[in-house]
Amino acid sequence: MSIVFDSERRTITLNTRQTSYQMKLSETGYLLHLYYGAGIEGDMSYLYEPADVGFSPNPVSKRLDRRWSLDILPQEYSSGNTGDYRLNALSCVNAAGVWGADLRYQSHSVRPGKYAVEGMPAAFDKGSECETLSVILADVSAGVEVELLYGVFEEKDVITRAVRIRNTGEGALRLEKAASACLDLPYGDWELLHFHGRHAMERIPERVPLLTGIETVSSRRGASSHQQNPFVVLCRPDTTEQAGECLGLMPVYSGSHRADIERDQMGSVRAVMGIHDEQFSWTLLPGESFSTPEVLMSFCADGLGALSRRYHRFLRHNVCRSRWTFRRRPVLLNNWEATYFGFTSEKLLNIAREAKELGVELFVLDDGWFGERCDDNRALGDWAVNEEKLPGGLNPLIEQIEAMGLKFGLWIEPEMVSEDSELYRAHPDWALTVPGRSPAMGRNQLVLDLGRKEVEDFLFETFSSLLSGHRISYIKWDANRHITDVYSRALPPERQGEALHRYMLGLYSLLERLTTAFPEVLFEGCAGGGGRFDAGMLAWFPQIWCSDDTDPIERLTIQRGTSYGYPVAAVGSHVSASPNHQDGRQTPFGTRGLVAMSGTFGYELDPGKLSGEEKEQIRAQIALFSELYELIQNGEYYRLEEEKHGPSFSAWEFVAPDKAEALLCLVVTHPESNPAPLHLRWQGLDENASYRVWRREFFGCALPIPSDTPELADERPTLSGSALLHAGYTLPRMYGDYPSVLVHLKKA
Ligand code: DGJ
Repeated sequence: MSIVFDSERRTITLNTRQTSYQMKLSETGYLLHLYYGAGIEGDMSYLYEPADVGFSPNPVSKRLDRRWSLDILPQEYSSGNTGDYRLNALSCVNAAGVWGADLRYQSHSVRPGKYAVEGMPAAFDKGSECETLSVILADVSAGVEVELLYGVFEEKDVITRAVRIRNTGEGALRLEKAASACLDLPYGDWELLHFHGRHAMERIPERVPLLTGIETVSSRRGASSHQQNPFVVLCRPDTTEQAGECLGLMPVYSGSHRADIERDQMGSVRAVMGIHDEQFSWTLLPGESFSTPEVLMSFCADGLGALSRRYHRFLRHNVCRSRWTFRRRPVLLNNWEATYFGFTSEKLLNIAREAKELGVELFVLDDGWFGERCDDNRALGDWAVNEEKLPGGLNPLIEQIEAMGLKFGLWIEPEMVSEDSELYRAHPDWALTVPGRSPAMGRNQLVLDLGRKEVEDFLFETFSSLLSGHRISYIKWDANRHITDVYSRALPPERQGEALHRYMLGLYSLLERLTTAFPEVLFEGCAGGGGRFDAGMLAWFPQIWCSDDTDPIERLTIQRGTSYGYPVAAVGSHVSASPNHQDGRQTPFGTRGLVAMSGTFGYELDPGKLSGEEKEQIRAQIALFSELYELIQNGEYYRLEEEKHGPSFSAWEFVAPDKAEALLCLVVTHPESNPAPLHLRWQGLDENASYRVWRREFFGCALPIPSDTPELADERPTLSGSALLHAGYTLPRMYGDYPSVLVHLKKA
């Protein structure tokens, strides 16, 4: 039993393998939060020494005990206007104009299995993995009922949370904020680790101490965004990759989101996470309810690396729904950086032919194949094939590509419409625009109002007939602008605050319908690169194009940042041309391959423009990737730490689940003339085993590597797991622009 109710002490404790989470039904009727952290036993109420701190209100039943205040005690789900001045999780107004809700415990129940979140992606139970706790709180006089839902995945050390809010009153209830989770951490120092960025440079980790006041990580862009990823980690100041306490909060949501972390007058920390409350309101008629997105919480006492690996496993096993999640993904070649819009069918076939010869398995036709789409200013919405570029339509092209022995994949951008399109001319009201105001443009396109059923149905019909009429094995689903001019012509003025979330519900419904109708198609998500790399999208897309930046050196930062929350098997990553198209940097072909291999792996270039030697490298890279596929995609991922006084590098590692083999990847990011030794320590190996250096391959070194002697390859030295973990490993000096190395160990 992972959920334990102690009726005497009135505590409810959620236990996972290594953690405990506890709440208490207090004598006042308020549901207090007592603890979240490493596994404990007993009633944690003793932690809260009563004290009158002044100017912190008391419930009327405690009017003579000024030491009892909602403003001081940790809460399970806070609402304003009742004496807690800290961040609220619920903000609502009823028909009488009453703001806030005085939420008191009503009942609770426990059942096997996992609750569902209506209309939204959420974690699922693969069979007896999860127990659900439902706690009902209510403000009876205000007509507000709140159901707090907890999914306890005991073995996974993950607790999920979501909230259902019901209008139990006689008139309308307007929600102005409905967070998914509120978590109080009453004691100790905490730091915030979050992942910010911009287009083509997503998910840069930033770790800051929490000061008194509020830190916010959010997106109000209608998408989870390149700018602030919906994943935050709270950690202790001394937490490192390999040790220390940390706690992750990740919403399963792809729209505007917000996480506020407040440190209050007493140094107590509260995190509130959910849908962004700006441009959000939701009207509930009597009897109606609203479900928030889910949040995945995990506490880990063993450092950031272990926390990441937990999220990797959980997302793959319990969130990704695609049949492709654990299937071997094809090595693809995408024509975008090879041709952009300037392709003919002959050009595409030449690229595909070369690609096939080099070992590529899937050819992907990117943007530009439909309507009058000769550039990115027009034709989105007109999903009929441009027969000037592709005579006879897609089928003759697909047939020829399949005849070469390749699978065929296609790019689409369903959620958008160009003003210059047949679709917009026929249905201008389907775009999100404000009446009487010129809309802000993004890539000269508008966003369709997916909250409208007829828009969702149109897109379902359009893309299901595309998929049923052609042999398409893979879809790249792009979205190249964020939302402005939020106004739905289908909603009355007082419900305009629902438009953004209704958009997400429409998008999720469309994705569910299409992926259910075409379960064999591999869908890759994309939003101008990694603008929607989140747990919500991963439910439908087992892989997501990680960034429009394909420079391997910048990708080191992007992919490392992404790895804090998301698994390598989800990271779309390709080898592209050098000089790189985004920043002009020149890098060795081998280093580009090594970085792309730590993802879904593919190419984004014209192989016809490569030298014979580079083509040979492609063959070798694909062979290597196939050999290492299991280890990379299903192994455990470790971020390795750089030694302060050595040369600058980025390094990461994969370890097989049974620790029988491991792979180290390292890229020198700043070569030096006379560098200190290149030394690091492996992680995750079996202490008691011996490992043989099975393969050690250097890429892009300008000078020969003196110590990479032929004997090394022949003798395959054996080193103990304990030595590699504790004494570490020293690599020969590497010179040149961005050289890299791969070291493959196998148990001796
Ligand atoms: C943005 C994507 O991230 C690119 O890979 C490419 O598909 C373009 N859109 C096409 O317009």
